[in-house]
Amino acid sequence: MSDHSDNLPAVQEPIADPGLPAHTPRPTDIDPKAERRAERQVAFFFLLSMVMAVLFVVAYFSLDLGKLEEDGTREATDTFWGLGASHVALGVTLGLTMMFIGIGVIHWARKLMSDVEISEQRHPAASSEEDREETLAALQAGLEESGIARRPLVRNTLLGALAFAGLPLIVGLTDLGPVATSSVRRKTLEKTVWKEGTRIVRDVTGTPIRPEDLEVGDLLNAQPEGLVHLHDASLKREGVDYLEGAPLHIEKGKASLILLRMEPKDITHGKGRENWTHQGIVAYSKICTHVGCPISLNEQQTHHLLCPCHQSTFDLADSGRVVFGPAARALPQLPIKVSEDGYLVAQSDFTEPVGPSYWERDSK
Ligand code: FES
Repeated sequence: MSDHSDNLPAVQEPIADPGLPAHTPRPTDIDPKAERRAERQVAFFFLLSMVMAVLFVVAYFSLDLGKLEEDGTREATDTFWGLGASHVALGVTLGLTMMFIGIGVIHWARKLMSDVEISEQRHPAASSEEDREETLAALQAGLEESGIARRPLVRNTLLGALAFAGLPLIVGLTDLGPVATSSVRRKTLEKTVWKEGTRIVRDVTGTPIRPEDLEVGDLLNAQPEGLVHLHDASLKREGVDYLEGAPLHIEKGKASLILLRMEPKDITHGKGRENWTHQGIVAYSKICTHVGCPISLNEQQTHHLLCPCHQSTFDLADSGRVVFGPAARALPQLPIKVSEDGYLVAQSDFTEPVGPSYWERDSK
């Protein structure tokens, strides 16, 4: 019998744990002067951060953004290397606000916090009572080692820097738009461009609509004249405001319309709405009153209009009443009539706010 153990590699001895290298103290660990100098440096970075936050606020209010053009663009009046000075200043000051806090914290950790290496043995993941106590003790030790209690200068300037860093965010919130007080709502959310005599035109083409263009059962997406980007310039009429860019999109979002023709006998007129229709043609907002999806799924037999988002269903033969789904109020109806030249026009604006009702509806 041969001895196979001759061919096996020799068993290796485990490598001895080299342990942690000897700790080398930093100048700030042994020289009180260096320690105080580092402390002042850290505070200096936090102070710089505060200054940058204040400069952000100054730039926000003092630099001109330029006039908003009708197409939604802005021509900056103050420029810096060809860029809008306001944007450059806001970006730079906000960036430096955050950067100086970061530099201060890193400098603090490198120079002043304890840098003694520790080794931690792995242990089962379950947290025993003992582990939790150890963790709390370690956190407490960390807090003590960071010196945050002993160094009020660093602590207070850091708190100041963090508080000031919130200023740009608070100031920036004002760009979300005006606060929706009742008077602001009356001029914005609760008002559309529809007014007496505004022509109802087809969406996309912008062509005006005569009652005879619609058969019973037809449904059309429509807009007020002036809110459709006209490819056919001959459709432009004197005295009509044709919006472009951002204002066009804002107004279009509120004024979009559904036109539907049904048998006049099928309509149940709401109180005061007896003359809001013309020969069975009804007009409603296209914006769902639940959370604002555009609607146009029509059930011809029932005159029900279904919103594809959450299945709210509105009865167009009965003042846009909600017959199913999460919408809490009827689809706003637009009173319509026929102009002297035979086209469908509005009698007035909507008599109630269009769209979702996440703001307080009744501002009267
Ligand atoms: S948006 Fe229409 S049902 Fe929700």
